[in-house]
Formats: sequence, C-alpha cells, structure tokens
Amino acid sequence: MKNRTVLLTGASEGIGYELAKLFATNGYKLVLVARNHQKLQEVQQELGYLTDVMIIEKDLSLIDAAQQLYNEIQSSNIQIDVLVNNAGTGLQDHFHHLSAQEQLRMIQLNITTLTQLTHLFVQDMLNNGYGRIMNIGSISSFIATPSMAVYGATKAYVLSFSEALNTELRNKGDYAVTAICPGPTKTNFAKNGDMKQLGELVNLVGVRPEKVAKVAFKSLEKKKTYAIPGKRYGLLLLAAKFIPRRVLQFSIAAITLNNKHSETTLK
Ligand SMILES: NC(=O)c1ccc[n+]([C@@H]2O[C@H](COP(=O)([O-])OP(=O)(O)OC[C@H]3O[C@@H](n4cnc5c(N)ncnc54)[C@H](OP(=O)(O)O)[C@@H]3O)[C@@H](O)[C@H]2O)c1
Repeated sequence: MKNRTVLLTGASEGIGYELAKLFATNGYKLVLVARNHQKLQEVQQELGYLTDVMIIEKDLSLIDAAQQLYNEIQSSNIQIDVLVNNAGTGLQDHFHHLSAQEQLRMIQLNITTLTQLTHLFVQDMLNNGYGRIMNIGSISSFIATPSMAVYGATKAYVLSFSEALNTELRNKGDYAVTAICPGPTKTNFAKNGDMKQLGELVNLVGVRPEKVAKVAFKSLEKKKTYAIPGKRYGLLLLAAKFIPRRVLQFSIAAITLNNKHSETTLK
C-alpha cells in the first residue's frame, strides 16, 4: 500500500527483520525500532533503496519507552498507519529459578510496552480513519507452557487483548487487529534468551522466519483476527483441544523441564 507508514518493533533481526523486508517491498514506509543501532543501520542501508526507512534505537523494556517513542515519532510529524508489536523476549526455566527482575522486565516488554504503544497509536488511527495493528503472540498464547510460565502468560495476554480490541474496533471503520501466533521459529530468539531446550526444538521442527512473516503479512491484509503460521502448529493446537488440560500440561512438562530441576509430578 503506497504512502502508508508502518512502525515495527524488534526489526533488527528475526521475524521483525523479515516483516520489514515484506512491508518495504510492498511500498510501505518504515519506522524501525530495536536496541542494536548497528544492526538497524544495516537494515536501513539494505532497504533504503526501496522505501523511506527511519530507525530509532530504543530499549522497549524500560518504563516510559513507549511514551518516548511516541513523542519522537510525533515530533518528526510522521503518521503511523500500521503498528507491529513484534519485539519480545523469552526466558526458560522453572519460574522460581528465574530472576524476578528479569521476568518483570519481560512482562514490561511483552505486555506493558505493547499495550501502551497500542493505546497511544490507536487514538491517532481513530482520528485518521485507518489503522492496522499486528501483535506477535505465540502458540503458547493457546497452551500454558511449563518452563516458560511467565512468557506463555504474556503471549496469552497478547492474543486475548488483540482479539478483544479487534472486536471493539471492527465497527468503527477501516481497522483491524491481528495476532500472529508462531510456533518455534528459526531465529536467534532461543539463543538471545539463553533458552537451550527451545533452541533444540527449533532445530528439530522450527519454521523459517520468512514463512512466519509471509503468513503474518497476508493475515493482516485479510484482517484476520489471528493466524498460526506453519500447518504443523495449527494441527498440533487442534489435536491439543482433545487432550485433557492436566494431561497436556504433564506432557509438556515431561519434554521441557530438564532433569536438573525436575520437580513436576502429575497429582
Ligand atoms: N522464534 C520463536 O521461536 C518464536 C516463537 C513464537 C513467538 N515468537 C515471538 O516473535 C517475536 C519476534 O521474535 P524473534 O524470533 O524474531 O526473536 P529475535 O530474533 O530474538 O528478535 C527479537 C527482536 O526484538 C528486538 N528486541 C528484543 N528486546 C528488545 C527490547 N528490550 N527493546 C527493543 N527491541 C528489542 C531485538 O532487537 P535488539 O536485540 O537489537 O533490541 C530483535 O530485533 C517475539 O515477540 C517472540 O516472542 C518467537
């Protein structure tokens, strides 16, 4: 879509980088956000011949980051038509072994900043008569994930929030909110979060980030409420519906909780 501008968080690598390429080749202007300035510059250089690319270096896990980002974009007189809340981190271990501070920081990034950015930009979208929001959830939006308890809960929030907001906006004009719920994907996500078991799973069954981005882009265009990239994960979630929750939890725990910390029994 010509002359539309997309604000994309977590665009320096992984799914966000693939989404940036897709939006650029489809004629969108880009505002890209992440912490790593050098990587953002490389993306800017790569995509700059296709479209306007503005980069903003920001740690979105900090309180006030969303408001600061909004203010910076406002002061540059840029109208955001599409908001993609993609930046996210994960942590893997028993809840009580992980640091509380790190988990709260993850909640700040995966939930609070996502919500605050949406709240800030949706007001402008409503004034402008057009808006699209894409929020990146996970298959753990649907199933609680022992060993990634807080991460999974943040992603359950993302799906619930997106679905409800999509319904609220549906009758107000040309708006859509789409939650994308990928399964393990071949990015540096596991490595960046030091999640060894997820990394092994990604190596075994991971979907390519190009594929996730393609499904995400198309789903937003079609104004879908949510999408699960990769047939294998769609089927997995379908099958999971027929398994009692307690049994499902125990099965996931058996795979994900390593021996060193194994304390989970089916009670
Ligand atoms: N990969 C998977 O298996 C998988 C599965 C399901 C869902 N997801 C979700 O997909 C989204 C993207 O993940 P990915 O696989 O592409 O991960 P990734 O390769 O680790 O990329 C994450 C992106 O987010 C940025 N980011 C991380 N922390 C940030 C912060 N505090 N402030 C600003 N930017 C930050 C990173 O850039 P900087 O480091 O430069 O800040 C990077 O651009 C996440 O929301 C994740 O939860 C991933």
